[in-house]
Amino acid sequence: AYVIAQPCADVKDMSCVDECPVDCIYEGGRALYIHPEECVDCGACEPVCPVEAIYFEDDVPAGWGDHRGSNAAFFAAL
Ligand code: SF4
Ligand code: F3S
Repeated sequence: AYVIAQPCADVKDMSCVDECPVDCIYEGGRALYIHPEECVDCGACEPVCPVEAIYFEDDVPAGWGDHRGSNAAFFAAL
């Protein structure tokens, strides 16, 4: 799945939401989150983010923290 990483925090541009064909991008308190099971890996959201916050899960820059864990925690709490 694709993931939204830390540049989204407090930016929340929302351009990605309009691009997603399966509506799997959810709004959280400070950032948005991609549902890991609903994402179909189409990649449409990635180029539209103005702060380059979106990556395929294996391509998030090193040292950016546990995005998989924070993603799972977000959806577990819904
Ligand atoms: Fe939605 Fe495609 Fe982005 Fe996944 S990769 S969140 S399906 S736009
Ligand atoms: Fe965030 Fe970029 Fe989407 S800032 S809301 S990931 S377009």
